[in-house]
Amino acid sequence: MFDFAPPADADKATLYDDLLSAADALTAGEPDAIANMANISALIWQFLPNLNWAGFYRMVEDQLVLGPFQGKTACIRIPLGRGVCGTAAASGETQLVEDVHAFPGHIACDAASASEIVVPVIVGGRVAAVLDLDSPVPARFDDADKAGLEMLVARIGSRLG
Ligand code: SME
Repeated sequence: MFDFAPPADADKATLYDDLLSAADALTAGEPDAIANMANISALIWQFLPNLNWAGFYRMVEDQLVLGPFQGKTACIRIPLGRGVCGTAAASGETQLVEDVHAFPGHIACDAASASEIVVPVIVGGRVAAVLDLDSPVPARFDDADKAGLEMLVARIGSRLG
């Protein structure tokens, strides 16, 4: 039983500091990547406000396949280079999208999504998965979110792939 709670009224930097500590503690010593992805998506869902989807797609035979997540049911397979997730996986670069409707090829799993951030999880020099967060609020994600989430996957990425 774990009892991690986001700090009340925290600024983003503090929120991400606490999220990182909780994620580290939660995954320490656990080698099963799927179990860790499940707990990390639940933790993000609990810590970060204004999300309608938070979870992972795993790289399986050069395709992204739906992994553990929180939110509504989602599309299962995404080819490399397609949508925001496929672009992050193909480029190895975080995609920060203020307006999903302006992103060429965006894949709308939930019509409520307005903005999105996708961070590649790189393990052993290759993209093992992507972490995808969606929000119903336009421009919900900024550079502080990008930095915090990139730090998260850098810290615990080897436990996710
Ligand atoms: N919007 C993503 C698809 C995944 S869902 O948001 C969960 C994309 O364009 O890749």
